Amino acid sequence: MDKVIGIDLGTFNSCVSVVEGGTPVVIANRGGYKVTPSMVAVTEAGKRLVGHIAKRQAVTNAENTVYAAKRLIGRKFDTPQVKNAIATCPYRIVEGPHGDCRIQLRDKVYSIPEISAMVLQEMKMIAEDYLGHEVTKAVVTVPAYFNDGQRQATKDAGQIAGLDVIRIINEPTAGALAYGFGKNIDRTVAVYDLGGGTFDISILEISSAGVFKVVSTAGDTFLGGEDFDQRIIDWLVQGFREEHDIDLRQDRMALQRLKDAAEKAKCELSAVMETEVNLPFIISSPRNEALHLQQLLTRAQLEELTQDLVERTVQICEMTLDEAGLEKDEIEDVVLVGGMTRMPRVQQAVSEFFEREPCKGVHPDEVVGLGASIQGAALVDDSKELDMVLLDVTPHTLGIMVAGGFFEELIQQNSTVPTSDSKPFTTVRDNQTAVKILVLQGESKKADENELLGEFILTGLRRAPAGQIEVDVTFEINADGIVSVHAKDTETGKEQSITVTATSGLTQDEIDLMMQEASEYAVARRGDEESEGVKQQAETLIAEIQKLFPEVEAVVAGSDFGRDAIEKARAVVDRARMLMDRNDSAGLKEQIDALTRTQRMFKGVVGKSA
Ligand SMILES: Nc1ncnc2c1ncn2[C@@H]1O[C@H](COP(=O)(O)OP(=O)(O)OP(=O)(O)O)[C@@H](O)[C@H]1O
Ligand SMILES: [Mg+2]
Repeated sequence: MDKVIGIDLGTFNSCVSVVEGGTPVVIANRGGYKVTPSMVAVTEAGKRLVGHIAKRQAVTNAENTVYAAKRLIGRKFDTPQVKNAIATCPYRIVEGPHGDCRIQLRDKVYSIPEISAMVLQEMKMIAEDYLGHEVTKAVVTVPAYFNDGQRQATKDAGQIAGLDVIRIINEPTAGALAYGFGKNIDRTVAVYDLGGGTFDISILEISSAGVFKVVSTAGDTFLGGEDFDQRIIDWLVQGFREEHDIDLRQDRMALQRLKDAAEKAKCELSAVMETEVNLPFIISSPRNEALHLQQLLTRAQLEELTQDLVERTVQICEMTLDEAGLEKDEIEDVVLVGGMTRMPRVQQAVSEFFEREPCKGVHPDEVVGLGASIQGAALVDDSKELDMVLLDVTPHTLGIMVAGGFFEELIQQNSTVPTSDSKPFTTVRDNQTAVKILVLQGESKKADENELLGEFILTGLRRAPAGQIEVDVTFEINADGIVSVHAKDTETGKEQSITVTATSGLTQDEIDLMMQEASEYAVARRGDEESEGVKQQAETLIAEIQKLFPEVEAVVAGSDFGRDAIEKARAVVDRARMLMDRNDSAGLKEQIDALTRTQRMFKGVVGKSA
């Protein structure tokens, strides 16, 4: 049976997991790390770096290192969130051909799903290294509050990475799944997930029969650790400007160093009451003197700088509870997910609001990935311990634009998915042969304040007087939270299937091209790894042979036959070295045989003489 991996594709970190023998486990990479920074870079030589190695070189290659790409996925270029990102990111965000945003790294422009695909591909490879075989199926998580465009774009990323994303699940739901799995509990729980980029809160009913039912969910896809860091950066920049009259933001390298320092200070302040931000030689003055940044930051100051962010999460909790029609005391467990929940002020705010201590024993960085793998296993395996049902909801109301620019609701927010609803459309003019429908998602009564998912035109209608032609349009949200639309001519019964092309999405041709590039990269990278392996093997064999030379010579040098054998052994080693120098990996691979035979022969000779 195919193994399905679970991937938590985070703004800050990603994590991959798999169920083995009925137990979900987090997979560590070769370096032993269980989470991988969601960072991608391109070096001067054009080499792609992903994860830890990308993070390590971020300061010296800030312009070509992408972090937090998830904040941009599925978003249009012309939005306040993207403007905010442009103002604060050291990498270059440009407008794409579909009004989407793209990132320029050196001389190439990448779509956001392509960047996310690089991270997914890395996670796929980590899993393959561990499992020892290829992996093609995955469950990928997204913030519960992601809209259709963001979900579609995440699915595209999976496809580009060569993964069949069999299900998209919501991060807090995955958290709840990992929390409740195998516990046989009947409980109403709240999952508070504050990560690097997004905030989600979900209320679920978990039943001992293995049903995980989401009652309500809400969030903010632009509220997370990044914003906390930004507050510290702003404060540092302002202090520096007051002192030196220099804006540190002009310098990309300084900006990247500030970002690292701010994040580090924030994390330290979860454990200690004060910390010093110390950045020597941060910038030069107009008179070319090196300037340093040195600032003491206390926990109280950090809490003041970020008070409104924490407040906002609490307000969203209140809203969700209202939506669920529950009182605080009906919540029996509060589960904290996401690295930001390590901040003492956040923990305090959550326990004050829910009037109870959050559960211990849940690993905030790993639960989401674990939950994804549980769902993955449950989808392909029908063994008893994986017998469970996940009932999630759609976070946004789905509707269409009607006369006057109003928004007519079709599927309500917090409806259990999959779900569908039909609506009849009639022609309004005589001989009208086409109807245009705008599909939107959001909570505003005004259509233009909601997110336009796409538009489609029903064509080929029979010419008839106004109002005579009726078309039934069905709007559907599947278990991934992705929207699709079908239409049926009620008179003829003829079906029209319409895909809502997300207005900022990629075309299939673009995806195919990106897929091909990604798979070429995977082949090249596996090739690199293989030649590295062959090189190491050759080096080990040569070293062993080299060590045995004197002894072997002492034993066999007396005979012509022996001298001949030594001569041949030298030639084998020399040739291997020459191939290594030339980086001829295929040649070296063939030479391994000869090296192995020589090494065996030498060992035999030495063994016999001993
Ligand atoms: N000890 C700590 N104190 C405060 N913040 C922390 C601590 N450890 C990690 N963080 C913050 O947690 C955030 C990362 O959390 P996490 O890995 O859960 O995010 P993510 O899953 O990548 O993002 P998202 O779920 O929003 O897409 C970062 O902003 C990081 O600085
Ligand atoms: Mg997360």
